[in-house]
Amino acid sequence: MDLKKLTLMPHGLEVLLPEGSPLTDLENQTSQRVIPFGCQSGACGACVIEVLDGFDSLGDMDGDEVDFLEDLGRTDKQYRLACQSRLMSAATIRIAEEE
Ligand code: FES
Repeated sequence: MDLKKLTLMPHGLEVLLPEGSPLTDLENQTSQRVIPFGCQSGACGACVIEVLDGFDSLGDMDGDEVDFLEDLGRTDKQYRLACQSRLMSAATIRIAEEE
C-alpha cells in the first residue's frame, strides 16, 4: 500500500494515509479533531480547507463541489472541501479562515 503525506498547518502535523484515501480518514489517524468535519457529504461547508501545496494531489473536483464552494464565496483555486478530497500524493493544507 502506497502511503502519501498530508501536512496540516499551522500545527505542522504530518499524517500518512494510503493513496486515494478520503481526507475524512484523518479522523482515524489523529487523536485530535484537526478538520471540523460535519456532514461528510459535501453539503454543510464545515470542512473548507485551503491547499497550500499540492492542489492537484487531492483528486478531481466534481461539479457539485465547485458549485458549493462558489456559493460559499470560496472561488479562489486553492479551496477544497476536505470531505470531498482524496489524497493522491503529498499535500499541505490548513483550515480555511472564517470569511
Ligand atoms: S463535512 Fe460537510 S461539506 Fe465537508
